[in-house]
Amino acid sequence: MSAPKTLVIVAHPDLAGTSRVNRRWAEELAKHPDEFEVRDLYALYPEGSLDEDGISVERAALAAHDLIIFQFPVYWYSAPALLRTWTDEVYGFGWAYGGEKAAPGEPGRALANKRFAVAMCAGDIEANYCATGTVGFTPSEVIIPFRATANYVGATCEAEPFCLFGTEGDLSDDQLEASAVAYVEWLRKLVRA
Ligand SMILES: Cc1cc2nc3c(=O)[nH]c(=O)nc-3n(C[C@H](O)[C@H](O)[C@H](O)COP(=O)(O)O)c2cc1C
Repeated sequence: MSAPKTLVIVAHPDLAGTSRVNRRWAEELAKHPDEFEVRDLYALYPEGSLDEDGISVERAALAAHDLIIFQFPVYWYSAPALLRTWTDEVYGFGWAYGGEKAAPGEPGRALANKRFAVAMCAGDIEANYCATGTVGFTPSEVIIPFRATANYVGATCEAEPFCLFGTEGDLSDDQLEASAVAYVEWLRKLVRA
């Protein structure tokens, strides 16, 4: 029997247009529809917010998957804004939190025991993502809001994100292709873990 699918929430304001890295990664995932369920948030919610139907659809997608990935380009050491809006609206009181006595998966603890991870790309070079670099923090530290949110809702988040650096430098097509292959390998390793 095949493993359950991995849900990949992609947050890029122009995935089909200006994106190079996230688009290539999403294309790679689309080659394996039996393994990955991809949701392009900006295409789904071009108005920049979710109504009740949207919230229900997103909650159903989360409920149906155990391993959930957030894929995005790093924007100001965070994710593009719609992912925050999505979190604000989908992780509501009485659904994601507020039901300490509920069983995992039930309203109030709907995300308990889920596994989260982050896949991101950064314009800056890897050497700057450390205590002594110009960023001053590691990628694992940059994603602390994701890790803390997972903790709060009773889920887990991989401490180390999958990360491609230097996307605004002279990233070659070969490096981009290699990253797409490595990304899928990283995801498959998470599935097996
Ligand atoms: C509004 C904005 C903010 C950005 N902030 C950062 C940043 O904080 N750190 C960084 O390394 N790169 C930053 N970048 C560069 C993006 O991470 C880079 O454009 C992205 O990795 C390219 O991915 P794409 O080809 O899928 O668009 C920023 C880019 C934009 C447009």
